[in-house]
Amino acid sequence: DGMIKEAIKPYSIFAQEFDLLLDEPMGKYTSFKIGGTADLLALPKDKIQLKNLIKKARELDIPVTFFGGGTNLLISDRGIRGLVVITKQLKSKIELIETDSETDTIIAGAGERLSKICRFAANNSLTGIEFAAGIPGTVGGAIIMNAGTKSGEMSTIIKSIEVLNQDTFEMETIGKKLLNFSYRHLNLSGIIVSAEITLKKGNQEQIEQIFKHNLNKKNASQPVSFASAGCFFKNPAVGKSAGELIDKAGLKGMSVNDAAVSEKHGNFIVNRGNATCQDILLLKQQIQKIVFEKFNIKLETEVRIEGE
Ligand code: EPU
Repeated sequence: DGMIKEAIKPYSIFAQEFDLLLDEPMGKYTSFKIGGTADLLALPKDKIQLKNLIKKARELDIPVTFFGGGTNLLISDRGIRGLVVITKQLKSKIELIETDSETDTIIAGAGERLSKICRFAANNSLTGIEFAAGIPGTVGGAIIMNAGTKSGEMSTIIKSIEVLNQDTFEMETIGKKLLNFSYRHLNLSGIIVSAEITLKKGNQEQIEQIFKHNLNKKNASQPVSFASAGCFFKNPAVGKSAGELIDKAGLKGMSVNDAAVSEKHGNFIVNRGNATCQDILLLKQQIQKIVFEKFNIKLETEVRIEGE
């Protein structure tokens, strides 16, 4: 007993020093409302706190996992060992930092809600981010997932990002040209702390209209009031979308306990209340199997799956 106490001492000092939450249920931090506990959880408020936290975790050899808004995330029922860092409180005032005759560049903390950037853009007659209407989550999360729709994606509006390098613990600014964006993905090893976004000057009325149109379309076609992680599968590179394939395979409404294929949109798996990660994964496998048998297409998961 004494030995165990001695062994956990550095962790409890660490937990106290950084105000860490212990054995925190992760369902609270995901839009799916699913997930076991994280051993340690931190919600740093600024980049200095973040840097000290990561440095200390490295010294103590504690594995670290990063999340943003938790809106594209499925966490296992056994939860996450080590430290989880949620970046949604890394906020700073959304500010105009550069302007020319055609564009404005703004800066925002990684933890800002994407919807807040959308509102800022509309209020200031800036166009280019209307595609993000109704996309939940944070700026950092949206960048790392290269969130988007058919009409646009994050990669097109990012000027640069400020990143905490996890090896040197230095802040680095990485310009667009050096960023390796692909479909719903950014290949990056550091942690995004803020981003510069360049938008075009436009007509406010028109911008508001496009936002409204996109939002209405989303609300009409997606189960926005259910717990989910958004579209569950990536769209295949060619041919029909994942949602249409699942729909055509007759799988809407198929369920495993409280995990169900949405009746509204085939590419949404919803948590009807008490779904576990296990339920979601079983349903996912069944969907993949049936779609493969019917259409010879392998659906790949878009949602990030994490945990033990
Ligand atoms: N469709 C069906 N049945 C369904 C769902 C869709 O037949 O159950 C058909 C639609 O009628 C349409 C086509 O499939 O002809 C495409 O559907 P939709 O317009 O809904 O777009 P999507 O390809 O399913 C993509 C993004 C969404 C984004 C929408 C809005 C991916 C994987 N999905 O969906 O993103 O909101 O476009 O433009 O890229 C997300 O990433 O989490 C997400 C929800």
